[in-house]
Amino acid sequence: MESIAITKDFGKVRDDFPVLQRTVNGKRLVYLDTAATSQKPNIVIDSINEYYRNHYANVHRGLYALSVEATEAYEESRTKIANFINAKNADELVFVRNATEGINLVAYSWARSNIEKNDTILATEMEHHSNLVPWQQTAKFLGSDLDFIKIDEDGQLILDDLERAFSKKVKLLAITHVSNVLGTINPLKKIIKYAHDHGARVLVDAAQSAPHMPLDVQDLDCDFLVISGHKMMGPDGIGVLYGKRELLLKMDPFLFGGDMIKEVHLRDARWNDLPWKFEAGTPNVSGAIGLGVASDYLRDLDMKAVRAHERSLVEYSINELLGIDDITIFGPKDSDIRCGVVSFNLDDIHPHDVASVLDTEGIAVRAGHHCAQPLMERLGVSATTRASFHVYNSREDIDSLVEGLQKTKKMFKK
Ligand code: ALA
Repeated sequence: MESIAITKDFGKVRDDFPVLQRTVNGKRLVYLDTAATSQKPNIVIDSINEYYRNHYANVHRGLYALSVEATEAYEESRTKIANFINAKNADELVFVRNATEGINLVAYSWARSNIEKNDTILATEMEHHSNLVPWQQTAKFLGSDLDFIKIDEDGQLILDDLERAFSKKVKLLAITHVSNVLGTINPLKKIIKYAHDHGARVLVDAAQSAPHMPLDVQDLDCDFLVISGHKMMGPDGIGVLYGKRELLLKMDPFLFGGDMIKEVHLRDARWNDLPWKFEAGTPNVSGAIGLGVASDYLRDLDMKAVRAHERSLVEYSINELLGIDDITIFGPKDSDIRCGVVSFNLDDIHPHDVASVLDTEGIAVRAGHHCAQPLMERLGVSATTRASFHVYNSREDIDSLVEGLQKTKKMFKK
């Protein structure tokens, strides 16, 4: 049983987020779509403003004060995020546009040189398209096999299926830490150890876990891990790929051009050191700075307390939602293994209709396939409605959701 000893009052956190102070359709904004993207605290918005107002210049190039300041701020952010995920070295972190780009970097720079025709790439039935489509393309390119660890009716990975899955020559396991649809927290440590014991490398999609729970890449012992900044209170267009140093050192660059080189001649070039070998062109400096500040903000809230707060919201929401007739909730009911994501369907009312009625009440949820169409097929539905939480949410938000759903039911009553 996971410890929930740390409880903290997050009541005032909402005040840090300017957009949450506005109304929508004349109602208090109830933002329940953090799994799609998180809102930004003042401190992150201000840091970007401050960079553009007082320190803006290109990085790694200039010998003048502004460029030195910009470079220092950019590299300090890398160190902050390395500390946030407990990486051994900051140079194991590559700034990318988002988790998707990080996965594509691994697919092109590592997988295409390390996986062969008769090898298997293993994923799971609960992957987001971002951790599925790149592997479909890689398997097609290499002529290798693509297989999946199955999930059970509760939305958990079937650990007994590992033996079958790893009976093949698996070179890579691409696995999400937390399902963006079901909220399931996968027992990664156990699975990563199993994969390593069977000679496979492991890439973790941490887009839905990094913002919500303590994350320690050394403890997990994953080989690669990706994060999307915009889901972690940072700006959009910035993300991080973590890779073990010994792997990154041997990999070829993904993109070629300025800044990623050490030396260029007319017909050849030599690559820069880590991590810049993977950062071609002028990077998203403001994004990196904002993401560094976001990681500080979350660290100051205390990630154990963040997890405990969201866990109590999950418990409360499942309990309250189950009080509505004809609701189907997907994913594990046990909050020990569930993050702040609750997908459901209300009778036979289409999720798009549910979301539209909720919007009239100022409640923002996502409805659709959530970029996980194969998972929808597995669940036997075409879409769900999804509420997802972060530190700025409260029981009051869930009460509004439940009232909104009761109203929706009345409107669609035949
Ligand atoms: N991956 C995002 C979501 O789950 C967009 O909504």
